[in-house]
Amino acid sequence: MATVKLELNPQVPSIPGFEDKTKIDVRYMVIAPFVSIHIYWNSELNEVIYEVEEPVLTEDDWKKLKKIESSMREIVNINFVGGEGSQEHLLDYIDKTARLLISELGFEIEESKYEKLFYYLYRNFVGLNEIEALMKDYFIEDIECNGVDQPIYIVHRVFRNIKTRVKFTSLEEIANFVEKLAQKTGRYISYASPILDGTLPDGSRVNATYTKDITSKGPTFTIRKFTKTPWTPIQLIGFKALNPAMLAYFWMVLQYKTNLMIVGGTASGKTTLLNAIAFFIPSENRVVSIEDTRELNLPRENWLPSVVRTGVATGGAGEIDMFKLLKSSFRQNPDYVIVGEVRGKEASVLFQGMASGHASISTLHADSIETVIRRLETPPISLSPMLLNSLDAVAVMTHAIVNGKETRRLREISEVVEVKSDGSAVTNTPFAWDPSTDTFHYRNESHVFKKIREKFGIDKGALEKEFENRTRLLSILFQKKVLSYDDVQKVINEYSKNPRVVLDRYGII
Ligand SMILES: Nc1ncnc2c1ncn2[C@@H]1O[C@H](COP(=O)(O)OP(=O)(O)OP(=O)(O)O)[C@@H](O)[C@H]1O
Ligand SMILES: [Mg+2]
Repeated sequence: MATVKLELNPQVPSIPGFEDKTKIDVRYMVIAPFVSIHIYWNSELNEVIYEVEEPVLTEDDWKKLKKIESSMREIVNINFVGGEGSQEHLLDYIDKTARLLISELGFEIEESKYEKLFYYLYRNFVGLNEIEALMKDYFIEDIECNGVDQPIYIVHRVFRNIKTRVKFTSLEEIANFVEKLAQKTGRYISYASPILDGTLPDGSRVNATYTKDITSKGPTFTIRKFTKTPWTPIQLIGFKALNPAMLAYFWMVLQYKTNLMIVGGTASGKTTLLNAIAFFIPSENRVVSIEDTRELNLPRENWLPSVVRTGVATGGAGEIDMFKLLKSSFRQNPDYVIVGEVRGKEASVLFQGMASGHASISTLHADSIETVIRRLETPPISLSPMLLNSLDAVAVMTHAIVNGKETRRLREISEVVEVKSDGSAVTNTPFAWDPSTDTFHYRNESHVFKKIREKFGIDKGALEKEFENRTRLLSILFQKKVLSYDDVQKVINEYSKNPRVVLDRYGII
């Protein structure tokens, strides 16, 4: 055990919304007891500023820290920094090594000061240097750095886009940092292959560029943070991203191998919704997933995740793209194939798989069912209208401003009724969000329900009753604050085995 205690997951505070930006003044801890975040209106700059408050060191301590660091670099195996390992173990190692070096260097450092230095050693060796505090801030969704001497911007859950006081001031510093990111993702970046797409050990997604030629201000990076455990469907009700009936719809249709697409703009919440509704894929189903970079985090055992391998590090040899992965995934006989993001020729493999009975859920950049169909029919994807009939439903996520606050909403669930041979489509929209009242409405009878009834010979009343029961159960779970990953999973699994017991327990029958 390290002698200095770092609390890396302090309690998440609740932050009120501010009508008046100039009144913003919030402070919360991210690495207790050393680092807090201060977000406030800066009247000189006329904007909201995000400031990281780290321990203050005197010039002399700063010099000592640099000396300890460089000695440490000489003895520490560099791979050690990259591996996730056990955090406890790493901290302990740093603690012991630092104390040893301090005595070898002949420094006299009192304990309270040592604790501060220890924080910086943690930050620079185990953590992500200047942005470590940002990585530990629960409220941050994205971290964006556009180059040398450019303030880093973040996307904050409550305050949205804000400027930070953090920046990289030299080319060398930022280049080193981008190398560190590459090392942590286990991928490779160099002048010859200057683009990095990868996943950090905590699940966050990284994109980075390395040279001056492709981005004018030097290396850049963007980090999309992910919560360690994905949000549960019940938590999405809490965010008002959708309502219990919409969730119950997913729960129903995923039980019957329905083909879904989740669409929306950038950062509209597609992956988050996909992760959450994956709770409803029956637990005995075999799921195979395919992604460019690892983002999915599915709540299940019977899951085979795969990630595209770029051939850059090997000079093109051994490259495995989505197309190849998808083809081989069908040989693994999955019940559900999940495709992170459909862009090109892999779409034809996906739709052929769907046509031959392998259900799928995928995401696509589009803003309505009409655009989805158009994009799939036109180059580069160019699917035949016939094949498009395998797609059952499209869920459209959207950014929305509600009462002056940025939010995400499931704008509609639309269904493909028929794609005709001339490419035109008949669609049906059972659920839609009304922006004027910020409420969700059940608009039309579901066409997918009808298909399920016919295919599986289920009586209309029985299917509707089942849908109603699940809707009620989800609302009650929300009211009773059954939100956590494990609790929600338990109820859903139990329901699939013995629905009456669960309905009875929650007073539904
Ligand atoms: N319903 C929601 N309410 C609040 N925040 C959300 C919601 N859904 C997603 N987010 C947050 O928004 C950010 C983007 O979400 P996500 O990665 O799911 O979007 P995406 O559409 O898949 O983005 P991309 O197009 O980049 O793949 C994440 O930080 C996530 O935590
Ligand atoms: Mg995504």
